[in-house]
Amino acid sequence: MTAQKKLIVFDAYGTLFDVYSISRAAEEMFPNFGKALANLWRDKQIDYTRIVSLSDPNADEGSRFYEPFWSITKKALRYSADKLKLELSDEQEDALMQAYDRLEAFEENRHVLEALRAMGLQTAILSNANADMLERVSKHAQIHHLFDRLISVDQVRQFKTHPSTYALVEKDFQIEGQRILFVSSNDWDALGATWFGWEAVWLNRSGQASDRLGPRVAHTAKDLKSVLTLLR
Ligand code: LAC
Repeated sequence: MTAQKKLIVFDAYGTLFDVYSISRAAEEMFPNFGKALANLWRDKQIDYTRIVSLSDPNADEGSRFYEPFWSITKKALRYSADKLKLELSDEQEDALMQAYDRLEAFEENRHVLEALRAMGLQTAILSNANADMLERVSKHAQIHHLFDRLISVDQVRQFKTHPSTYALVEKDFQIEGQRILFVSSNDWDALGATWFGWEAVWLNRSGQASDRLGPRVAHTAKDLKSVLTLLR
């Protein structure tokens, strides 16, 4: 570690919450297409967030094209079903969207979060998700009480990797960036945080190829237990 950390900030989906159940639900609905649908859906969702964050030339108060992540996610799902020529009924759309609220936490998370807090560290989530999505999923996964704050980019009406989203954390906690360790399973998010000036961990749970853009993120870990080891 380059400096003593006080606050550990986590991304949500794929980092704390296991999104595998979404492709399982999609596969049950559309046999042989579940994985393709889930992957395209995720890519399109992130694609939409970037279009929103890039397209307003006067975005002092956030992007005027901003819409909450729930709505972005629903539109990305519709597009992905169309693209794959899958007939998606309103009921199926609802069921897949509900899956977002019912994700489980990865197995080791509770123990690691408790251990971090026992070490006197503060913990937070910084997510593209709107605040009520974050509340619902973290309560469902029973890890809500293990965070000092759930921070949604909603407040700045921009999405990661817009610098104003990472800046929210420093403002909320009144903390210097060098005291923060950021953990994300999205290499691009870990890079955004690194460019913002934070020390970051890319949580590569499934042996994904690493991004080639920018500097290497300071740390790579395969699960949250390794993050704990980094801090000890
Ligand atoms: C989030 C997405 C990027 O939680 O995983 O912000």
